[in-house]
Amino acid sequence: MPSPPFAPRPRSPSALLANPALRTYHPVAMQPDDFPRPDLARALLPHAFDKVDAAHDEGHLARVWRNVARIAAEEGGDADILVPATILHDCVWVDKASPDRAQASRMAARKAETLLAGLGWSAPAIAAVAHAIAAHSFSAGIPPETLEARILRDADRLDAIGFIGVARCFALAGARGAALYDPADPAGAARAADDGAFALDHFRTKLFTLEDGFLTGAGRRLAATRAARLHSFYDGLLDEIR
Ligand SMILES: [Fe+2]
Repeated sequence: MPSPPFAPRPRSPSALLANPALRTYHPVAMQPDDFPRPDLARALLPHAFDKVDAAHDEGHLARVWRNVARIAAEEGGDADILVPATILHDCVWVDKASPDRAQASRMAARKAETLLAGLGWSAPAIAAVAHAIAAHSFSAGIPPETLEARILRDADRLDAIGFIGVARCFALAGARGAALYDPADPAGAARAADDGAFALDHFRTKLFTLEDGFLTGAGRRLAATRAARLHSFYDGLLDEIR
């Protein structure tokens, strides 16, 4: 039986692996003086990413650091831990579609351990940075046990919601070859969510679930504004396409 006209084409989850938009990281925008430990930042910035995509690049690092600084200004936190943890939190890139994706933050933590040991750091300080990096990830499922880990996780999650979260979501979905939404059922009312095929489905599978998971008071307050923007975009988009 012929397929119906305009039916969504099957999408390959491996499309991103061959994506020419995946770039090599060359640090140009962020300066060591952007951080309260410039010498440390100078040593670590070249290692911040092994590869970059539109959602994980220097712009993301700059935004996460700004969020970290905002939260830490209210909550406290040790800059000696927060600076390296922030710079290195995405230092190992793993495709979202890869079975190793849930291991990405642990892999980044191990790379950070090696880098900081090479700089002569003490074992407890290395462990504090590594824990914050490992626990920041949504998919890792590691409970943050320190203030610095809670701050980094909140700061990274703030960049996944709000207007910037929308932009990052659609950029990654486009790189993967996903459609904006399912023309037959945009909100997925009568089907299982499939965010590998439809970018808009990612709001339900992940983005909306993030807003209740913030762990610091400052993070929760900043998240409330961004969560409202996320829902406003989602509702507005559905209104325009129906
Ligand atoms: Fe990140």
